[in-house]
Amino acid sequence: MSRRVVIAIDGPAGAGKSTIAKAVARRLGYVYIDTGAMYRAVALWAIRAGLALDDTHKLEELSRHAEIEFAAGASTVLLNGEDVTEAIRERAVSEAASRVSAIPGVRRAMVDAQRRMAEGASVVMEGRDIGTVVFPEADVKVFLDAQPGTRAARRIAELEAKGQQPVSEDVSREIAERDRRDSTRSDSPLMQAPDAVFLDTTGLTIEEVEEEILKVVRARVSNGKEVLR
Ligand code: DC
Repeated sequence: MSRRVVIAIDGPAGAGKSTIAKAVARRLGYVYIDTGAMYRAVALWAIRAGLALDDTHKLEELSRHAEIEFAAGASTVLLNGEDVTEAIRERAVSEAASRVSAIPGVRRAMVDAQRRMAEGASVVMEGRDIGTVVFPEADVKVFLDAQPGTRAARRIAELEAKGQQPVSEDVSREIAERDRRDSTRSDSPLMQAPDAVFLDTTGLTIEEVEEEILKVVRARVSNGKEVLR
């Protein structure tokens, strides 16, 4: 019988985490969990409820009551039963998510939910603190990064694909500000776990990054043999 496997993928905005984590999960038949979407869902609810983003007590309470679910292989995000897949990708929500995710009580609620989601299933989980805090014992840890220009270009392409016309300098500034906040907060800052494999995705194709990660999975999880399900 195969045991549960956890693959943790961390890194800054635009490093390619979502694309890669989804591809790896599909290849292995594991459940894909986008933890950034969970902080985004909390932020969206907070904005809609008119909460001040420094009201730590109310935000913690709200995050405990947020029912966040993934459907259709995580391509759909549900908040309290409502499909918020598109709404959580708004730029105002990105900014708010980075703020609410710095609140320890909000993080505790999300980390609990993330651990519950991985009970009894092999997962590919992506975020900022998966290898350091959520699953320090993960079987495979990968830290993805890319040069700032590449990360901004990817975000711009994503926004353009949605019909938006972003100003390149604004996107670069927003990413830099988010990275600064995510890396300098005191609770669970964005950080490479000492035992994570570092991969710079600048100039690499999705297939190349996916293959690198699968090599690590084969080496660590299955002694070079077929990969567990
Ligand atoms: O990956 P993303 O851009 O969708 O994440 C949105 C925000 O949530 C990001 O600014 C950092 C935060 N986040 C976090 O603090 N911890 C995680 N595990 C995932 C995301």
